[in-house]
Amino acid sequence: MDDLKRGGIAVIDFGSQYTQLIARRIRELGVYSEVFAHDGAAEHINQHRPAGYILSGGPASVYDRDAPRLPAFLRASDSPVLGICYGMQLLTEAAGGLVASAKTREYGPAIITHQARSPLFDGLATDLRVWMSHGDRIEALPPGYSALAESDNSPYAAIGDLSRNRYGVQFHPEVRHSPQGQAILSNFLFRICACQRKWSAESFIEDAVKKIRAQVQTERVLLALSGGVDSAVVGALMQRAIGEQFTCIFVDHGLLRKGEAEQVLQVFRREQGMNLIAVNAIESFLGALQNVTEPEAKRKIIGKLFVDVFSEEARRLRGIRFLAQGTIYPDIIESAADSKNAKTIKSHHNVGGLPDDLHFELVEPLRDCFKDEVRKIGLALGLPEAIVWRQPFPGPGLAIRCLGGLNWERLEKLRAADAIFTDELAAAGMLRQGTAQSFAVLLPVKSVGVMGDKRSYEEVLVLRAVTTDDFMTADWARLPYDLLARVSARIVNEVAGINRVAYDITSKPPGTIEWE
Ligand code: XMP
Repeated sequence: MDDLKRGGIAVIDFGSQYTQLIARRIRELGVYSEVFAHDGAAEHINQHRPAGYILSGGPASVYDRDAPRLPAFLRASDSPVLGICYGMQLLTEAAGGLVASAKTREYGPAIITHQARSPLFDGLATDLRVWMSHGDRIEALPPGYSALAESDNSPYAAIGDLSRNRYGVQFHPEVRHSPQGQAILSNFLFRICACQRKWSAESFIEDAVKKIRAQVQTERVLLALSGGVDSAVVGALMQRAIGEQFTCIFVDHGLLRKGEAEQVLQVFRREQGMNLIAVNAIESFLGALQNVTEPEAKRKIIGKLFVDVFSEEARRLRGIRFLAQGTIYPDIIESAADSKNAKTIKSHHNVGGLPDDLHFELVEPLRDCFKDEVRKIGLALGLPEAIVWRQPFPGPGLAIRCLGGLNWERLEKLRAADAIFTDELAAAGMLRQGTAQSFAVLLPVKSVGVMGDKRSYEEVLVLRAVTTDDFMTADWARLPYDLLARVSARIVNEVAGINRVAYDITSKPPGTIEWE
């Protein structure tokens, strides 16, 4: 039995969009947590002997014919249980209370008042702002339960059977819109379940290393290293776990930012000591992209060529059974949106469409992690901040930032301008805070200017910087004028062939973050 996981929290999923978020909040509190399907086998759910259970919300109504039910082992269990929203309604129904459809759906912020002294609200102000999102509500409490908090909309915003350590909350403590939600979860973990804080980036690594070794045994593993955070962290993790059995392929397609290819070699080959094969495929990529201007055509060509180059290298290596991938939890949600099968690998993960004859089995050690957790793990593995805090960079690279036809000269121009923008943002402390993504875009447009008393007729460069949490919507970053002025002056002076710099002030929507 794995000691690290013993005494954690099993989150039982009833279909809420927030289920993984609950698990992540618990890990933030230093406690191991894992999500299980509501109809999973009891032995599987209980394999690490959880100290308590959290029942997620969900879209069903407890009286629906096919509604997911409270797992049988939990009806009999003496362990602490916290039901959130649908989870609370399930506890109520299972213990003989009454749940009914509310007259109005309650969605959004609400104030709850907790009057009873209960360990769940220990140390918290009496009135709390919380986030509600439910259609059903509790009409009558089951025997043994009492109301722990009320809201304007319901006398049962939180309930509990303290003698059996059963608690329910109608609101969502896991979302940031419930500012004291984390304190409530913390009370459940430490006051009610008596969990211990033993979960950390270091303990994740220790555990992941064991799992990787158990999965791959003496077989060899391959990784397509892009230099992005996720593949970098998987690489460092695989290296720690199986060193000699592990090989990375880094395809340099010539569409990377300034110094990026050199940095990948420095960090992964020299510092991390990885067995890294660097493939210089610049000519093939630029050749295939010559005269291609349509953005989707660029993407298709790059995606296909990447798979071809990678597969050829992989075939040459022989005897490799596993492919490691930097899939993280948000990728799985995104793919689930396009597919019923939540396990599909996102298409822009490049290596998703490998030819059948390669027959790789996947190793995906970060698939339950969120981006910020991946960063913590990367730092704990000794990766440099420059890699761990790198902004997202699209798979097709500079090809979709160099508008119009691509050639080496235009790419170099774009790289030089982009590096100046990045340097100045970093110097102003705005690369990590203040912008979520920032880059330069070279337009296939010339404008007239005057330099040294002479007429110039050169290309236009656009600076793009956005703030966003999820990259689905974004606002253009309000960068200081002085910073923009410095960047513009430096680019026009230092980069030959650019005589005008513009700043993109379009949000998403209606714009997208990238220009292509
Ligand atoms: P958009 O331009 O759609 O970008 O607002 C949202 C996020 O996705 C990134 N992006 C891509 N990433 N392959 C990728 O791996 C692509 O083809 C691609 N297109 C856009 C973009 O950089 C931003 O972070």
